Amino acid sequence: MKVFLIGFMGCGKSTKAKQLAHRLECPVIDLDAEIVAKSGKTIAEYFEAYGESGFRNYESEMLKTYPYPETCVIATGGGLPCFFDNMDWMNANGETVYLQMEPAQLVSRLHNRHKRPLIKDMDDEQLLAFIQVKLKERDQFYTKAKLIINAFDLDAEKLEEEIVKGK
Ligand code: S3P
Repeated sequence: MKVFLIGFMGCGKSTKAKQLAHRLECPVIDLDAEIVAKSGKTIAEYFEAYGESGFRNYESEMLKTYPYPETCVIATGGGLPCFFDNMDWMNANGETVYLQMEPAQLVSRLHNRHKRPLIKDMDDEQLLAFIQVKLKERDQFYTKAKLIINAFDLDAEKLEEEIVKGK
């Protein structure tokens, strides 16, 4: 079983992926971290060097060419499901879980904004407005996930239960 965790920046994909992989006793793969490791650039540097479209091409290629083990949990970048046919590809190749959260909750959790090129200079008010607009655009992709789960106050045990139940 391959579990792809998707959702907006700040919803907890990386943390939950680690916890879930620990419970399932399988490897965790963080696609953003793979991009950093392979390219030798931070995400911010990658955006600066190749622009957003260069980044979208690379993250999509990484998604589709990574040598996944049979069982693993994968944390995806927040925009990844919304470009090319990535959402359909993930649905065809694994379990997809949308970690859903309200815009105001996301704002309160997004501390490392400088690491995220799309939101790096935003204050809380600007970020809230940005998230409200972006979520409307992105929800059509995110909601194609096989499982949609409220990620606020979600613990890894409940996440595992939901995934196992949904299979
Ligand atoms: C992005 C989310 C980021 C990273 C990049 C773009 C997005 O990942 O891939 O900054 O478009 O939402 P996280 O969701 O892990 O922050």
